[in-house]
Amino acid sequence: MKILLVTGSSGLIGSEVVESFSRDGWQVHGVDNNMRAEFFGPGGDTRWNQQRLLGSLKNFSHHELDIRNRPAVLALLRELKPAAIVHTAAQPSHDLAASRPFDDFDVNAGGTLNLLEAARLACPESPFVHMSTNKVYGDAPNEIGLKELEKRWDYADPAYADGIKETFRIDQSKHSLFGASKVAADVMVQEYGRYFGMPTCALRGGCLTGPNHSGVELHGFLSYLIKCNLEGRT
Ligand SMILES: NC(=O)c1ccc[n+]([C@@H]2O[C@H](COP(=O)([O-])OP(=O)(O)OC[C@H]3O[C@@H](n4cnc5c(N)ncnc54)[C@H](O)[C@@H]3O)[C@@H](O)[C@H]2O)c1
Repeated sequence: MKILLVTGSSGLIGSEVVESFSRDGWQVHGVDNNMRAEFFGPGGDTRWNQQRLLGSLKNFSHHELDIRNRPAVLALLRELKPAAIVHTAAQPSHDLAASRPFDDFDVNAGGTLNLLEAARLACPESPFVHMSTNKVYGDAPNEIGLKELEKRWDYADPAYADGIKETFRIDQSKHSLFGASKVAADVMVQEYGRYFGMPTCALRGGCLTGPNHSGVELHGFLSYLIKCNLEGRT
């Protein structure tokens, strides 16, 4: 049975990856330390999602591990030698990063480097997929001209009809400290691919949500809005 390592496995995206690969017959190992609760308080707690996965999937194991813990990350990768890695663990909020810049950078940039180097030493042939973000472009996309349609705004230049290309510039732009730590991780993921020839990939998503998000005001805002609505909060 092929082994997949998923970091941030109790979070929104990580838990979906766990379920999908687990159903496809992979042996899935999740890494999460519920740091989302430490970041955002009880509303951000992800233990319920961890328990849901452990209760419903036979081929899923949970590792209570902080990705900032370099020796522990190196040891886990050395032990598992996963056939693929999906890295979704992160400090995901712009606003929180401004008040906790060390934690933000240590988790997002340092944690990603720990995983990349551990993968290079243990399983350099295994695909390494990193959940990056469209925030790596900072506010530069705001410079693209818009046109008003009947019900919405759209880019005026047809070159952007299918969205913003990955070649769009990421510097000379304001990112927030969160965006900057994610740029560091994104570039490092690319570098391990180009410099060491590893099969790495950075996916730049934006505004993702779903029923398994521990949504709070500072992150997972769409999920938070729905919860407020259901609970009649204003
Ligand atoms: N949700 C979105 O809209 C969105 C959009 C674009 C990119 N992303 C990126 O996708 C990734 C996952 O986002 P999400 O919405 O699933 O976030 P999430 O907060 O739901 O999941 C992240 C998980 O990582 C865990 N974690 C945090 N720090 C950790 C640490 N030091 N060690 C181990 N585990 C730790 C948290 O406890 C949490 O369960 C992030 O990198 C985020 O930047 C998310």
